[in-house]
Amino acid sequence: MENPDKINVISSASDLKQQIAIWKTNPSCTVGFVPTMGALHEGHLKLVEKAIQENDFVVVSIFVNPTQFNNPADLSLYPRTLENDLLLLSKIGSCFVFTPSIIDVYPENDPYKPIHLQGLDATMEGEFRPGHFQGVVHVVHNLFNLVLPNKAYFGKKDFQQLAIIRFMNSYFHFPIEIVACETIRESNGLAMSSRNVRLSDEEKNDALVIIDSLYLMKELKENGLSPTEAERKCIWFFNQSNLKLEYLTLVDSETLKPLLTEWSTKTTCCIAAQCGAVRLIDNLEF
Ligand code: PAF
Repeated sequence: MENPDKINVISSASDLKQQIAIWKTNPSCTVGFVPTMGALHEGHLKLVEKAIQENDFVVVSIFVNPTQFNNPADLSLYPRTLENDLLLLSKIGSCFVFTPSIIDVYPENDPYKPIHLQGLDATMEGEFRPGHFQGVVHVVHNLFNLVLPNKAYFGKKDFQQLAIIRFMNSYFHFPIEIVACETIRESNGLAMSSRNVRLSDEEKNDALVIIDSLYLMKELKENGLSPTEAERKCIWFFNQSNLKLEYLTLVDSETLKPLLTEWSTKTTCCIAAQCGAVRLIDNLEF
């Protein structure tokens, strides 16, 4: 495969270890880490750009993690576009792309022992994708152990994932700063996602009901409706669309507990829906 300039591809854990040992001979050297499953879009590139600005070296992992897919069809349909990913990364600056094998990430002497996620995985994605977050926590834990970064970058689009990774990071006392980055949207408001390439133009248009519902929710809060009333109205609005709603939920941004009568100081509205054959998620904090 052609390897564009400025991109160093490291395809094994042992090569990564050697590279990190070289960096760490300078104790003040900082490493930023952007874990991805590839099929990169502008949202990922923003994370990498920020990591490049804030660190001496940046590792971007590309690994489609089988343990976080509860649906085998979703795993096999997940886009794999390594050549294009490398090209995109080469345009934004210098970084190291880590493309580990399954055995690198899940070795026989696997360092991860499952942890209790304190109910953070009980609702929303956790409810609709059983086992998903254990898979995410497992892979991110093992990647953190391999990359040993100072900072790791995650998008706010995966709101519940971010909260769970923060929890895992402090549970294991990793000396890693978790940096949360804003959701990047198309000009019409559709949140960028690797899955969007599987949407037809018509479905992309239909999917705008997600952002419309999130803004409607914000407006209903500002108009003084209770969380329950606002949720009921938004669900009704959403259900006029062609998408199949899985959940539209208001939660406290910190605890992820559902809101009933009172708004929190920081509330997040989270949505997941099926748009044709593609599952989409999004959220808005207000
Ligand atoms: O957000 C993702 O792309 C994945 O869940 C992650 C964090 C790379 C783990 O596989």
